[in-house]
Amino acid sequence: MSDRDDYAEVLDAVMERVRSHIGEGRVADYIPELANVDPDEFGFAVATVDGDLYSVGDHSRTRFSMQSITKVFTLALVMSRSGDSVWKRVHREPSGNSFNSLYQLEFESGVPRNPMINPGALIVTDQLLSDTGDAVGALGELLCAETGDPDLHTDNLVARSEDEHGDRNRSLAYLMSSFGNMRNPVPEVLDHYFRQCAITVSCEELARVGLLLARHGRRADGSQLLSRSDARRVMAVMLTCGTYDAAGEFAYRVGLPCKSGVGGGILAIVPGRCSVAAWGPGLDAKGNSVTAALALEAFTDITNCSVF
Ligand code: DON
Repeated sequence: MSDRDDYAEVLDAVMERVRSHIGEGRVADYIPELANVDPDEFGFAVATVDGDLYSVGDHSRTRFSMQSITKVFTLALVMSRSGDSVWKRVHREPSGNSFNSLYQLEFESGVPRNPMINPGALIVTDQLLSDTGDAVGALGELLCAETGDPDLHTDNLVARSEDEHGDRNRSLAYLMSSFGNMRNPVPEVLDHYFRQCAITVSCEELARVGLLLARHGRRADGSQLLSRSDARRVMAVMLTCGTYDAAGEFAYRVGLPCKSGVGGGILAIVPGRCSVAAWGPGLDAKGNSVTAALALEAFTDITNCSVF
């Protein structure tokens, strides 16, 4: 699997498996601005640790809303700055509940199950805001540096739409605040969280960002953002919690650490080897992209690149 032709052949085979499913699923509309995406788009890209980039699908360079995939990189930034202290404020167990569920948070005294669901990500954003003074700025800098594209940015229409329809996230944040688990003013944390989720990337760009983990925490410039152990821990959290209450299903079908977002993207990492990004806007009932999941399943079936 290191040969150029092999990857090109694999990607063609992935495309063949996905083609007849393009358009399936339902585009997220609980953030109305996200619903303005053509459901028939599909992109897929693989970036290798050797520096090669392969893509297939008509939309592997089309930017889409990163949404919850950002949760991986805010966690990486917080772990790189604050070490283990964030784990006093958020657990790392699968939730078995939807990503914006409130009731578990009440039972568990305002300490979210994991950083890959909304309340956990709000805690991580709060921590990053304390650590840097500008959480979304720190995330944007990291993403621009890892893609080599200084132009990555927040889609302000999506961010505003999230804010206007963000009562559930507001409720989660105030509930955690009532338990004393927020450090910064809730409106400020939410503002950074909404703008963070609304950053847009293409599959090719996302695959390049994912190399940070595939290279065990090493950045594109050769410096180490995360220790090898912390990179492994981030990927463990992705595997167990990154696809919400379908994480077991993803481990079974794909067998890689994955993180999905309601923009329809999914990032998967083959540690030491490559980073894979897939995008199709139609989601299944749990909020994961139908075609991106199929594409990743086909990729690991064909290549046997899995952590198992
Ligand atoms: O907060 C939200 O609901 C969205 N900005 C992100 C949701 C998403 O992608 C799935 N969440 N874990």
